[in-house]
Amino acid sequence: MNRLVTNSSMLMMIRASSSALSHSSVNGSRRILIGGGFISPEVQRWSFATPEWRRSMSSSPTPSKEKAVEERENTKVDKMEKKKDDLPLVSSYWSVPRHEITKEDGSKWAWNCFMPWETYEADLSIDLKKHHVPKTFVDKVAFRTVKLLRIPTDIFFKRRYGCRAMMLETVAAVPGMVGGLLLHLRSLRRFEQSGGWIKALLEEAENERMHLMTLVELVQPKWYERALVLAVQGVFFNCYFVLYLVSPKLAHRVVGYLEEEAIHSYTEFLKDIDSGAIENVRAPAIAIDYWRLPKDATLKDVITVIRADEAHHRDVNHFASDVHFQGRQLKEAPAPVGYH
Ligand SMILES: [Fe+2]
Ligand SMILES: [Fe+2]
Repeated sequence: MNRLVTNSSMLMMIRASSSALSHSSVNGSRRILIGGGFISPEVQRWSFATPEWRRSMSSSPTPSKEKAVEERENTKVDKMEKKKDDLPLVSSYWSVPRHEITKEDGSKWAWNCFMPWETYEADLSIDLKKHHVPKTFVDKVAFRTVKLLRIPTDIFFKRRYGCRAMMLETVAAVPGMVGGLLLHLRSLRRFEQSGGWIKALLEEAENERMHLMTLVELVQPKWYERALVLAVQGVFFNCYFVLYLVSPKLAHRVVGYLEEEAIHSYTEFLKDIDSGAIENVRAPAIAIDYWRLPKDATLKDVITVIRADEAHHRDVNHFASDVHFQGRQLKEAPAPVGYH
């Protein structure tokens, strides 16, 4: 159903683009308006060519007629792509042209949501077993809070790790943004530098969001899972915002332990891939480009690099908490910007 809605949206976008082509005129010169930039044909093909991912990871059973419907849809999409390719494309936004961006091999860059200089190779040598032993009262509160939060998560998702990971990434991308926002405001209020911590925390938020953008290629969330995301985000954002204002050392420690749990979850995910319980399908294009993975990369490769990212976030947040525990401000300790 969502695919049909998506395809209908695509048709509407093309019709809208055609309309804009025939009517837009500014200062006498004809302009072509294409709202919000463009999506390359390569990306479109990936966006529509991942049913095997969704089937393998989704919490819903696949209807038997889906294959025939998909074939019909793919034909429609091919026609739409062809039609869209025929349109003259001007990558301008209020007359600000975007330079042609290419990959290292000279091929055209397919994404607008991230650029080649934002990609990286995950450091897989990081110690996944490192654990911050809770010693102080604040540590113990953080540790117990995270362990308590895990109980309903385990009950709700059980071993549906694709769905579980996607849902948790919608939460994981919040703390970095909240911390970055509050440090940004603090910097403005106090006329002082942040020591790079604004950037480091926003990088973390962006990285977590990219985890979500990758996992959403795997899972088509049901309506009640989307509703759950709304509710959880509303509660978690506000709780974390207040917590960060009151005690940043507790807030960072909580995130440090959440990341330790994330490492555990992704390790279980990998076990299910190895055992065959989860099919080790091809990696989506977005993951291959973002983590600079080989073209024949698989789901296992993707989960392995995501797990390495979580280990880095764990270190950043435990480090930030340690700085606060020493009675110092974050800006006194150079932030681990670009730490992947
Ligand atoms: Fe994540
Ligand atoms: Fe994380």
